[in-house]
Parts: sequence; structure tokens; C-alpha cells
Amino acid sequence: MTATTQHYGSGRHLRFHVLTYGCQMNEYDTNTIQSELVSAGHMPVDALADAELVVLNTCAVRGKPVEKVVTVLGELRKERRQGRDLTVALMGCLAQLEEGREIADRLGVDILIGPGAITDIVPAVDALTGGVSEWESLEFKDDLVTHITPASGSLTGFLTIMRGCNHHCTYCIVPQTRGPEVSRPLKAILQEAEDMRQAGTQELYLLGQNVNSYGLDDPSLPSFAELLRRVAGVGIPRVKFTTSHPMNFTSDIIDAIAEEENICNFIHLPVQSGSDRVLRRMGREYRRDRYLSIIDEIRSKVDNVVISTDIIVGFPGETEDDFEATLSLYDEAAYEQAYMFMYSARPGTPSAKHFKDMPREVKTERLQRLIERQKHWSLVKHRQLVGSTLRVLIKDIANEGDYLYGHSDQNHTVLIPKNQSNRLGLMDVVIESATPHTLYGSLKEHHAASVPLLMAG
Ligand code: 5AD
Ligand code: SF4
Repeated sequence: MTATTQHYGSGRHLRFHVLTYGCQMNEYDTNTIQSELVSAGHMPVDALADAELVVLNTCAVRGKPVEKVVTVLGELRKERRQGRDLTVALMGCLAQLEEGREIADRLGVDILIGPGAITDIVPAVDALTGGVSEWESLEFKDDLVTHITPASGSLTGFLTIMRGCNHHCTYCIVPQTRGPEVSRPLKAILQEAEDMRQAGTQELYLLGQNVNSYGLDDPSLPSFAELLRRVAGVGIPRVKFTTSHPMNFTSDIIDAIAEEENICNFIHLPVQSGSDRVLRRMGREYRRDRYLSIIDEIRSKVDNVVISTDIIVGFPGETEDDFEATLSLYDEAAYEQAYMFMYSARPGTPSAKHFKDMPREVKTERLQRLIERQKHWSLVKHRQLVGSTLRVLIKDIANEGDYLYGHSDQNHTVLIPKNQSNRLGLMDVVIESATPHTLYGSLKEHHAASVPLLMAG
């Protein structure tokens, strides 16, 4: 483990609670933060109110998640002023930015640790309990070699294969918060996947800001397509990955997905805009035609594939024609799913510096129209599945109470009545009805590796 740095501490063990914002990378980092703290003797607690240490693992990609963090920090500061004994750590992408430091200073944060130094959390807590008044680690120093063996028994496991981003999309803060691309060694990835297989993981998510750039920073590493095949060979029933960039989404990746049975037929391929003019201003290195030709190749080679995307509406200077180009691209790609965002001017990004933001009403109205398009296509695609059988990883009780929820091999959200199973795991489910977001079905058959509901991790 990397937390072998000098210890200053009082040896005091704290009850801690981690709040996670943002993407799956952050969920994975939260696992690391929790494992580090637990292995140093600190104790996780479910309720924020019971914690002596609160860690906020933050996201800075849009304004909204930042506002949420500011609200929580404000509440915590109030409680401390009323006498609550609390240590507060700001971690994740926001911590890396000037904006984060300013918020930390203003709202009384004790520990500031960026995404490149997360294993510093233990020495930081030690230092604070030992009497040091504050701690800051903002360098990119965690080697990506050593990582935590995942908690056993969890059905879904996250595995970071690379960190950072070498693209320079003009709206995006990530290159500043996560630094340049660094790929993890093949051996460490395969070992971690093997550990997860032995621990019973049924679904493995390979993570990175740009997974298909894997290995480009180091000639001794295989390509992403080869890596996919090697990871598939470990034998976990289901392997997914996110997120990809259209620029290096090469045919060999599509072939690996088509040929390896346990690599899921689900591809998240952010397009951001359907207008070449906007793509150019966004600094995206491909154009509409090239993007659509990748979609064609995927749909022709990969059976039953589901494609999802990210789209930003209201990028500065986006005209009505540009926006309509996005709508028409949506129709051509016929996405099964999409994540849609209003442009958010992030301090420090080129687009925030050089371009003028447009009125919020225009952005809201365009987002609404795009959501309508998304609902239309998702419903069309979902209805085509009624009557068919999907393999679903049932993961937990759904928020709606009377259902269990899970995800299909193609990442559809699927619900089955709770009284049909007291187990979690892979199951065959017959789809009976559909909404734009959800498929409802009935259990047909459990697969061998299911686990009792109560024991699920
Ligand atoms: N404004 C709105 N959306 C953004 N994204 C990234 N930066 C911004 C921003 N400044 C979106 C992109 C990206 C997703 C993770 O978040 O669509 O793919
Ligand atoms: Fe941000 Fe673009 Fe890199 Fe994605 S590819 S993380 S949007 S800079």
C-alpha cells in the first residue's frame, strides 16, 4: 500500500463518512479512500451526523455539483461553530482547482487533497489528529501501480486502467483536475481483475477519462483493444468500460467487442454536438461524418448493441441551425440512451475565458427539446425488446420498493417484482413492458452464481 508515508499522528481513530459526487472514477476513488482509512483503523459510519471526519469527494465538471459541495460545507461549518468536533476533507476534482482552494479557505476545510494524491488521506488525518492545523496535497504522485484489493462479495467492481486526459476540449476542466494521461501497467490491471473474479465480481467496469487512449503514453503497453481481450480472458462474466473518445475509437476495439463474448455490447461514445462548427469550437478532433461512420461500423459489427452518448446544449455561439444539426445527428445515430447537459462555463477553461455564455432560457429550451428526442428514441428502442429475454445482473432492491433492479448486458435498467427472487446476481429476465428509462420484466431463470439478497455487497 502507498500509505506508508511518515506518520505524525496521535493514533486516534475517527468515525468517518465519505460523500461522493460525480462520475464513476470518483466512486472508485471513494473505494480507495475508504479502504485506506479502514486499513489505518478508522471506522466508516452510515450517518453523516455520527462522523468525526467527513470527506467530500468532489466533482468540478459543471457548476451544479460545485454548488452542492458549497452547501454541504456551509452546513458543516455551521455545526462546527455550534461546537461539533469535526474534521473536514475536500478531495476530488474541485480540490485541485483554484476555485476549490478558495472555497476551502472560505468554508473552513482542514484537508485539501487532489485526485493525484488520494492515498495521502491517512497521513493527513494523522497529522490533523496530531495537532497540525491543516494539510494540502495537490501534486500528482500516487503511482497507479498499487491499488486496493476490492471488497469481496460486491457484484460490480470498478477498475481504473488509466487516469487523466490529453484532449483539450475547450469547455472541460478535467485536463486541469486529473492531469495528463497515465496508463496503469497491464500486470496490475490483470491481477486486480483476477482478485475481483475470485471475490465473486460478476460485472467489471474498466474506468478512465479516455479508456481507448490506454497504452498510447507507453510503448511497452498493449493497445486498448488488446487490453480488452486480455481482461475478457480473466473470465468475469461481464466486462464494461467507460468512457471513450471518438478520436481513437478504432476498428480493432469494435472487433474485440464483437468477438469477445463477455465484453458487453454497450458503448458510451460522447459526441457533444452534431454541428461541425460547434465541434471545432469545442476543440473536439473529429467531425460529424467521421463520428457517424464509427456508429455505422459499430451497429453493423456488434449484434444487439446499445449506444449511449453525452451531449452539451447551448455551447457559446451555438445557433438554432447548429442545435438542429445535433437533433438530426441524434436521429441518425438513433441512440438508445443519452446524458444531456446545459453548457456550464467553468472558471479556467478556454471557452469560459474566450466565449460569451448564452442566455439560460435558450439553453433550457434546447435541453427540453433534446430530452424529448431522447425519450422518443429510448422508448422506440425499449419497445422493440418487449417479449425478448435479457441477461440481467440484479443488484439490489429498487427505490420504488416493490421491485429489484439491475442492468442488462447492454446496460438497460431492468426491474423485476421483488417477490420473484430473494437472490441477487445474473438472471434471465423476460421483458414485459417499457418506459423511456426502464424495462419491466419477469424472472425466467437464475444463473449459477447468484447470492442471497441479504448478503449482497
Ligand atoms: N458544461 C456542460 N457539460 C460539460 N461536460 C463536461 N464539461 C462540461 C461543461 N463545462 C459534460 C460532457 C462530458 C460529460 C462528462 O460532462 O458532455 O462528456
Ligand atoms: Fe474533458 Fe474532452 Fe478530456 Fe473528455 S476528452 S475529459 S470532455 S477534455
